Amino acid sequence: MCGIVGIIGTEFSIKELVDDLQKLEYRGYDSAGIAFYKDGSIVVQKATGKISNLRDQITNFNTSVGIAHTRWATHGAPTDENAHPHTDCTGKIAIVHNGIIENYAEIKEELKRKGHKFKSETDTEVIAHLIEENFEGDLYKAVLKSVKMLKGAYAIVVMHSDMKDTLVAARKGSPLVLGRAENKVILASDVTPIIKYTKDVVFLEDGDVALLKNGEYKITDVNGNIVLRKVYHIDWDEASAEKGGYKHFMLKEINEEPEAIESAFVGRITNEGPILTELKEFNLEKVEKIKLVACGTSYHAGLVFKYFLEKHSNIDVEVDVASEFRYRNIHIDDKTLVIAISQSGETADTLESVRLVKSKGARVVAISNVVGSTITRESDVTILMNAGPEIGVAATKTYVNQLVVLYILGMYILKEQNMWNEEVEKDFEFLKKAPEIFRKLLNDINLEEYAAYYKNYHHFMYIGRGINYPSALEGALKLKEISYINATAYPAGELKHGPIALLDPTFPVFAIAPKDRLFEKTKSNIEESKARKSRIISVTNESNKDLEGISDDIIYVPDSPEDMYPLTISPVIQLFAYLIADMRGYDPDKPRNLAKSVTVE
Ligand code: F6R
Repeated sequence: MCGIVGIIGTEFSIKELVDDLQKLEYRGYDSAGIAFYKDGSIVVQKATGKISNLRDQITNFNTSVGIAHTRWATHGAPTDENAHPHTDCTGKIAIVHNGIIENYAEIKEELKRKGHKFKSETDTEVIAHLIEENFEGDLYKAVLKSVKMLKGAYAIVVMHSDMKDTLVAARKGSPLVLGRAENKVILASDVTPIIKYTKDVVFLEDGDVALLKNGEYKITDVNGNIVLRKVYHIDWDEASAEKGGYKHFMLKEINEEPEAIESAFVGRITNEGPILTELKEFNLEKVEKIKLVACGTSYHAGLVFKYFLEKHSNIDVEVDVASEFRYRNIHIDDKTLVIAISQSGETADTLESVRLVKSKGARVVAISNVVGSTITRESDVTILMNAGPEIGVAATKTYVNQLVVLYILGMYILKEQNMWNEEVEKDFEFLKKAPEIFRKLLNDINLEEYAAYYKNYHHFMYIGRGINYPSALEGALKLKEISYINATAYPAGELKHGPIALLDPTFPVFAIAPKDRLFEKTKSNIEESKARKSRIISVTNESNKDLEGISDDIIYVPDSPEDMYPLTISPVIQLFAYLIADMRGYDPDKPRNLAKSVTVE
């Protein structure tokens, strides 16, 4: 994980560099640091904890070259010594790094034998010393030579005080984006710090080395051969990456769901039904098996797709957690389609799963929110979710847009396979109205009283059946990851096979129970829980009054076709978790131990 920024060009203030780094804080917040030139030498400043700690301790200064880093610790504890930037023995080289160097211990031993002295426990410091060892007056050449010796993943930006007009960057396995503005070139782990300077960006690819000099850049492979990279235009504006008056990004992002859904619709929801031009060349009529692979929230979105598509087709749909999938013996034939879901497009396990199935000849469709991200580039085709930037670590609007895009995909496949039916037609009509329905729901819903009451519990059991079981999983994940309450989720019918033993008055049950064909069964499970004296809070649809008298608290969502409840229930479970986390005094945007983009295994 970690976020990096590098800027070279006309003078800018180091506070500005820290502001740019702030946009990447979601990638890690164990420590932060910057390096810049002052009076001909490199000055490094670091602070443990959030970027605000660094900001509080720096004295502003203008410079023309600077690098910055926000850390999510992998090698070495989150201390000042282990914070980036790291320097070599001479203090002339400073480097920031995102990734993990697998062979750092061997290189470190070798460098120690040559007399190098190390100040930290990090793999990154080893790269600084390696570059020092390989430096013969040209930083770019020293980086080329050094990266060839590294195993593992890296995105690095390096400066050298003998070459004050130069920054060198390299990428393998960790993301790095470059933008050239009028009088600056900027490098960053994603586009958010760059869009204030320029909206035209280049995504470096694995094996790329970039030399930034005199306001220009050149990109080569590790042998110094020029490589040409496409320039992508990003139409996000800067404000869309800011909080916009909300207390937290997470709350802002939940409230952006109506617009996010509208963006996902563009060109796909038509009078002729669902259309995915991205899949024009894919022979979807032949597909008999679909394997979805994803992690966390994205995995839950995949489960909703499974319930939906299996119900209306003869297609076998399997969903797997990527960290398991990548080590399984996966069988692929020409009737199998693989779908990789990753909002960031950088999740290491999902990416490796894509590589695994591609090596077996699979066709892979990526579903991602990030244009040009690694998974999108390595898959055959990408369906973008178009949710706009999501800064809060917990996925909210991107989950909603994953569901929307997956419903559209499912419906499109049903259409292509001539399996469109009346129920799907009703689902499609409902989906079209989703932005308006979300607007009203978000405007009307008030969960503060429930949150104030339930925030004092230490445990939660989420239950649901069928297509509503993934919502139970997602509700429990949201609650535990941001409020640190022990929340667990089970298919409602599984309660009696063990977990019901946990239930007592201290253990409330959150039931996802809209009136669908399985409702009576879920209702029985709610009654069983009630009999164990658990307090019950349920989500159901507004015309269903059958839970009154059984459930202690009821949250209503609009009536919809039963396939579509995962969509309308999403903001409820998100807001419930958000409010509880906030009321318990935690920062929902930056849950402890987590990072937005999990680029390590
Ligand atoms: C939870 C959450 C994570 C991610 C997971 C996969 O709120 O955000 O569980 O869903 O880390 O991330 P992506 O979708 O970027 O592959």
